[in-house]
Amino acid sequence: MTPFVKAFFDDATFTVSYVVREPHGTACAIIDSVLDFDHASGRTNTDSADKVIAYVKAEGLNVEWILESHVHADHLSAAPYIQEQVGGKIGIGDNITVVQDTFGKVFNEGTEFQRDGSQFDQLFKEGDSFHIGQMRGDVLHTPGHTPACLTYVIGDAAFVGDTLFMPDFGTARCDFPGGSSETLYQSIQKILALPDETRVFVGHDYKAPGRDEYAWETTVGEQKALNIHIGSGKSIDEFVQMRDARDATLGMPRLILPSLQVNMRAGQMPPEDDQGDVFLKIPVNKI
Ligand SMILES: [Fe+2]
Repeated sequence: MTPFVKAFFDDATFTVSYVVREPHGTACAIIDSVLDFDHASGRTNTDSADKVIAYVKAEGLNVEWILESHVHADHLSAAPYIQEQVGGKIGIGDNITVVQDTFGKVFNEGTEFQRDGSQFDQLFKEGDSFHIGQMRGDVLHTPGHTPACLTYVIGDAAFVGDTLFMPDFGTARCDFPGGSSETLYQSIQKILALPDETRVFVGHDYKAPGRDEYAWETTVGEQKALNIHIGSGKSIDEFVQMRDARDATLGMPRLILPSLQVNMRAGQMPPEDDQGDVFLKIPVNKI
């Protein structure tokens, strides 16, 4: 089965959101949506999500799933907003509970913040499958960037989130709490074990040096041969050394603090205070 894949690129966070639809039919899933957030003013807007919604409506699609590859640290999820507009069940990896536990502590969330993943409609684990109309999706647990990262394999297409990026850019960082470069190496082997012709859709693109255009689609075969961090048979030791050294030089993503607080709640804001106002926290010297 060869699903039709429509990509939406967000310039502000370099995120690629996808609508994956049946080749003949109206069922679709939306993967890794974006809620726009201006950090300086604390304001959200729905321009990015509205583009996806407009496409879904114009094509007469039926949204069955709103999938997250993981708890993103660089953009806010628009999953609840999209669900309100066009329906669909919100899914993520079942290790979300680990992420909720970690960041529940970091943000000193009270007992009203459930750490059981109950904010999501579906928690997936390795080996689970699901359907988008007649099309089957399979779940690979691919941790390393975060403990809850999933790869969704839908027909001949793998949505790898932040595990692999384009071959000329490499792989995702592994230095967030719960991340591990060794684990990411092992997870990537699962993706590389898919057939060479499998289409690979990445979660971000930053234009590698020497490339002028954004890109987000490649194949397992290309990743195996050409990925600068892991291709042509790099060993786990080589990878771990490179990844950890590189991660030590990286600053935190601009939106990490708002993103985590919202995305660990399945894209919902923290509860309103007694005036009906919503606040996000800035933990000092904790991340
Ligand atoms: Fe990420």
